[in-house]
Amino acid sequence: MINEAYKPKKWGQYNDVVPHVIKGFFTKEELDEVYELINYGKSLEGKDDFHAPLVLPKMARQQIELKFAGKLLEKIEKFASDFVGEEVKMTHNSYLSYNKKHNPDADPKLPPHFDSDNYFTKLTMDYQLEANVDWPVVIDVNGEVKSFSLEYGDLLVFWGAGAIHWREPMILDNGDNCEVLTMHFATWKDFEELNLPAREPEARELRMKEWKEKSKYSEYQHNYDAKMVELKDAYIRKQNNA
Ligand SMILES: [Fe+2]
Repeated sequence: MINEAYKPKKWGQYNDVVPHVIKGFFTKEELDEVYELINYGKSLEGKDDFHAPLVLPKMARQQIELKFAGKLLEKIEKFASDFVGEEVKMTHNSYLSYNKKHNPDADPKLPPHFDSDNYFTKLTMDYQLEANVDWPVVIDVNGEVKSFSLEYGDLLVFWGAGAIHWREPMILDNGDNCEVLTMHFATWKDFEELNLPAREPEARELRMKEWKEKSKYSEYQHNYDAKMVELKDAYIRKQNNA
């Protein structure tokens, strides 16, 4: 198993790391606060600030690291710590917006991967915000592939550092929109000791080598690429016939 040393001690009521969806995690008031944080981030556009929006043109994606604090952060971290079985902190989060308005010439791609730079994290949570497209998250659960179509307000909990995961290949049309909040949790000690060294190019390369040798990474990657080509061909054919 990849990153076994960082496997969550316990996984809620389960004995093993079983990804699943929790409904109604944020109250209406908490969600209002989340949107305030998103809007605050958006207001920093163009400024040299850690919480300012960043656009990744190749993925038609805008991302913002939200400034969680106070009771809301406490609630999230308590939930995560109870889940993992020891005290963890939210070491990283991103509000992600996938939309052609960020780059009309690109489609978002999240091919099969382990969370590499965050390999020491013990829990990943994806909270689904607005979306008008179904873009399933797929996770390898002990060699079995499970697909999750998230609805507004769904919280998907999984172990992104230890399980291969991806989003199904997708072609984004004008007007298509998908917004997600993603959060990672680790012990403070692991974060302080490992966060910077994890980003060194040699360390990244070593982890990539381990993925290829010890998991179904190459197989999933191959299937993903084939599906993407098929999807693009079908899309072009449809456009030519229209
Ligand atoms: Fe990931």
